[in-house]
Order: sequence, then C-alpha cells, then structure tokens
Amino acid sequence: MSIYIKSVNISGEIPEGEYISSLNAVKNLKKMGSLPFKKSVTFFVGENGIGKSTLIEAIAINAGFNPEGGSRDFNFSTVCANSRLYDYISLDKGTLRAVDGFFLRAESFFNVASNIDTLNSEKPGLLDSYGGISLHELSHGEGLIALVKNRFRGKGLYILDEPESALSPTGLISLMILMKSLVKDDSQFIISTHSPILMTFPDSTIYELTDGGINSVKYDQTEHFLLTKQFLDSPERMLKYIFGE
Ligand SMILES: Nc1ncnc2c1ncn2[C@@H]1O[C@H](COP(=O)(O)OP(=O)(O)OP(=O)(O)O)[C@@H](O)[C@H]1O
Ligand SMILES: [Mg+2]
Repeated sequence: MSIYIKSVNISGEIPEGEYISSLNAVKNLKKMGSLPFKKSVTFFVGENGIGKSTLIEAIAINAGFNPEGGSRDFNFSTVCANSRLYDYISLDKGTLRAVDGFFLRAESFFNVASNIDTLNSEKPGLLDSYGGISLHELSHGEGLIALVKNRFRGKGLYILDEPESALSPTGLISLMILMKSLVKDDSQFIISTHSPILMTFPDSTIYELTDGGINSVKYDQTEHFLLTKQFLDSPERMLKYIFGE
C-alpha cells in the first residue's frame, strides 16, 4: 500500500468575506486541524451542498492537478468555477511520489474529453492511451470506464468526484474491479460519492461530512446506505411515508 497524500490540513486564515469561510465542512476541518488518509481509498460522503467537491477540488489543485480536471499535463481552462480553498489548505505528502494521476471533476468530463482530442491532434497517437476512441464517441459511462481501464496506469493518485454519476450498477461494479487492481498496484483514491454500492469498497475510510462534524463511519452507518436500504426493503412503505397516501 502506498499513500501519497497522508492528510489535509487547514493552514491559513480564511478571510470572512470568502464564502468558504462559512461552510461547515471547512469550519469542521479547521476544528480537527488535520484529516488523515490512512487507507488506499478514502471516500467523502454527505448531503448535497455540504462541501465535498469544494474539499476534493482544493486537494486536487494542491496536489498539482489542473482545477478543471485531467492528468497533471492538462492545463486547459474553461469556466474556472473552483473555490479558493486551495489557498488555505496544505497536504502532508508521503515519501513516495505518485507516478500517475488523474483528477475527475464531476462537471467537466466533457471538457476533459475535448482536451484529449486537442492533445491528440497535436501529438497523434496520444488517444491510444485512452483506448483509441475519442471519449466523445462513447457514452458518458463507457467513456469513464475506458478512461479508467486505459489511462489509469497504477502507482497513481486518483481524485474522483462522484464517478458513479455516469454508471449503471453493472458499470459501477466494473469500476470497483478496476479500482481493486489499481489499489493492488500501489494507487491511492480520494473519492466523493453518493453511491451506497461504491462506499462498500473493502478496506477504505469513509468520512461523512455533516453540519456537526466530519466523522469516520462504516458504510452501513451512512445516511445514504440506511435510506437506500429502507427504500429498497420496502418501496411501498417508503412511498406511503413520503406522499402520505
Ligand atoms: N461560487 C460560490 N459562491 C458561493 N457559494 C458557493 C459557490 N460555489 C459553491 N458554493 C456553495 O458551497 C457549498 C458546497 O458546495 P459543494 O459543491 O462543495 O457541495 P457538494 O458537497 O459537492 O454537493 P453535491 O453533493 O451536490 O455535489 C454549496 O452550498 C454551494 O452552494
Ligand atoms: Mg459535489
């Protein structure tokens, strides 16, 4: 097991005017001082808007990735929507440096695909390392699996924001199988997710972000897992509860 990022810490004083200073996720991280990454896979889970993307984008930028996503070679920029949290955090890095890496930003898979096409026209053959087909000619889910299968080479740091959004349950299982062999090959993943399936990945840390704090939990203690299970165990009962019919 290789850990390339051992922890994230708030290291600077965030000015009052910055919206990130009022995010509970940021306040809670500040209170904790440091959030350790001890396993090859760390998940961030929690409600919409709690701050998962903000946090993992800041980690990715600090680790040297382009804010818009991609590998460390990518330097395109479209609408730069990232927050300035990266200015106020620091990463405690391991002694080994990752050989490979990729940052998959939830909103910019399309732009990453376009950038690969542009790079390929400048340097023909590059597309081969992505499976030989433009990611634009694949569906969203097919593109994601092709990216992980062909471009993630191991001994890498992979930061993924909601990778499940592209995937069917079967596709998600394919992703987990690919992740397992990448972990075996000394990779580290930091992932934000809403998927109760993905968060069952063995030997991982799950940080659940809530307004009250950042807690390390088991997958079957997360709000996502419990609510999904309640629903699947008895959809009729849940629907009656929700709609009051
Ligand atoms: N430019 C901005 N100005 C003000 N507030 C912002 C800005 N960008 C994001 N926010 C707020 O920061 C909070 C955290 O957003 P973030 O995208 O990190 O949430 P998230 O946990 O990733 O949510 P989701 O599960 O929906 O992806 C949200 O409440 C959002 O409205
Ligand atoms: Mg998000």
